[in-house]
Amino acid sequence: MESLMPRPHRSTRPAAPLTGSIGVPGDKSISHRALMFGALAVGQTRISGLLEGEDVLRTAAAMRALGAEISRDGADWLVAGRGIGGLTEPADVLDMGNSGTAARLLAGILASHELYAVMTGDASLRKRPMARVIEPLKATGAQFFARAGNRLPLTIVGTREAMPLTYRLPVASAQVKSAILLAGLNARGVTEVEEPEPTRDHSENMLKHFGAEISVTRAGKGRVIRLTGQPELRAADVIVPGDPSSAAFPVAAALLVPGSQVTVTGAGLNKLRTGMFETLREMGAELAIQNARISGGEPVGDIVAAYTELRAVDVPAQRAPSMIDEYPILAVLCAAAKGTSHLRGLSELRVKESDRLTATAALLRVNGVRVEIKGDDLIIHGTGTIPGGGLVETHMDHRLAMSALVLGQASEAPVQIDDASFIDTSFPGFLRLMRGLGANMVAA
Ligand code: S3P
Repeated sequence: MESLMPRPHRSTRPAAPLTGSIGVPGDKSISHRALMFGALAVGQTRISGLLEGEDVLRTAAAMRALGAEISRDGADWLVAGRGIGGLTEPADVLDMGNSGTAARLLAGILASHELYAVMTGDASLRKRPMARVIEPLKATGAQFFARAGNRLPLTIVGTREAMPLTYRLPVASAQVKSAILLAGLNARGVTEVEEPEPTRDHSENMLKHFGAEISVTRAGKGRVIRLTGQPELRAADVIVPGDPSSAAFPVAAALLVPGSQVTVTGAGLNKLRTGMFETLREMGAELAIQNARISGGEPVGDIVAAYTELRAVDVPAQRAPSMIDEYPILAVLCAAAKGTSHLRGLSELRVKESDRLTATAALLRVNGVRVEIKGDDLIIHGTGTIPGGGLVETHMDHRLAMSALVLGQASEAPVQIDDASFIDTSFPGFLRLMRGLGANMVAA
């Protein structure tokens, strides 16, 4: 969604604690995959709890443009799939909006379909590197033509006789892993991906759920995934859990505002996504999981968070893949904690919706917090008090916008952001939910 009119907002410390129980919208990663795998399966997939955020709606539109029938049925979504290799050439450019996940996963799907497609995105997505998928996917036999620096718009001329890939990921990226597996679905033979460190495994789980032949074995600190090409993917219902990356915002707000207690119900708790909660425990956070259960094949639970005087923390680089989207909000919590926090090994943050390493440091600095970037590490000197009073540039990045608004709930002076509109990419209803808990966040 290109923001035509920026929507500045102001966040002010509330007079009373935050309280209440909320559910957060569906998991973004699982929602993209449910639509894509549904489109590649034979039969009708019913999706409950799909995230109706801008990013996922872009994926729905793209899969429709490629021939899948996608409709709403009450609160659920229905996908009538085309079968592996059955997608058809889109009549127009596919606009992936703000979503790197949508663009990179779709590149994998398109590589092994004999069609011509062009993908573009908004100003943020058009800056993001696509070489990480283009380079390995070329070996399928597909052709890619991109703008300088391997940026979108990207033209893909897919191939009918895709070669199966054997690839070791140079960076820990679930998006790249998934792109290779998706290309491998329509390749003859076994596709093999090795990841140096485990990354979110929603693609592997969903491939199994749809009946693909896939194995995952440990290899050193990482994993090797083997997928047998050209399976018959059978439509299967998907229940999308609440997004733990979205849950992190109300949880953080509860930890920051004295006297608060907030419950987030039905949040996904896949182990490869919960590094943030492990980190919060190390900071001494009062955090409990209730009603732990399995729903739609994924672990979920209710997260109860209460105000805590947090300790500084040292987060090792190996934990980054399991909390990669949570660093901006973690940095906000570190600013409120007394002591110096070290968040290590954050090179991947430079290629998110914005350069999140630089932008997170700027977000804190403009609000009077002392921060340093040393190499790929973020060092935050917390004093227990956040002056606030800054105007935060959000760079078309939803997580920066939400992090800054949460910061304002705990700072001495209000925090302003230049634009709240991108929040809708991952967390539609964020402001309404936060206000329901008692947060003071208004249009400025
Ligand atoms: C995602 C993987 C992560 C994450 C993104 C969603 C996914 O990116 O930042 O929000 O759904 O696979 P990388 O895998 O590139 O680190």
